[in-house]
Amino acid sequence: MRENTYEEKKKKLEKITEEIENCEICNRYKIGHLVAGEGKLNTKIMFVGEAPGPNESKTGHPFIGRSGKFLTKLLFSIGLRREEVFLTSPVKYYPGKRALNNEEIKHGMLHTSKQIEIIDPKLIVMLGNVALKALFPNERFKLSKIHGRVIKKEGRIYFPTFHPAAAMRFPKIRKLM
Ligand code: URA
Repeated sequence: MRENTYEEKKKKLEKITEEIENCEICNRYKIGHLVAGEGKLNTKIMFVGEAPGPNESKTGHPFIGRSGKFLTKLLFSIGLRREEVFLTSPVKYYPGKRALNNEEIKHGMLHTSKQIEIIDPKLIVMLGNVALKALFPNERFKLSKIHGRVIKKEGRIYFPTFHPAAAMRFPKIRKLM
């Protein structure tokens, strides 16, 4: 299949962002702004997190709170700037201080799968258990067992690692990450 040109990618992604902003389900649960995701469109690397936090929901930008700053530092330490990758989360709204349920992760993936298809990254870094569950809903992967191990599927590389919020809280996880 022919690859999308940059302009085609941009247009298609804008359409998905619009779909997210008009999504009845996401709007029903959201607190503050929806956060569709952002970054480089012609990137080979996409990061998938969990759900926006309170800081992200105030601005509509992903990973700008404490864990986002930590992620930015981690990227820098391996020679990457956040502008060079695409950052998003399976769930596009801040759910408040509660755990996400499987239905909302599944729903969020309807939007996120379209973003993945358009950006077409070679590598998807899964930040934490929610990302792992979102991208591999039929597997019973345990992050504690498979973190750092490459999974190859349908021409893409999936890399499971920890969520930066967990790495910030727990020195052991920080070291592993
Ligand atoms: N954590 C996430 O998973 N996503 C964000 O955008 C911010 C924090």
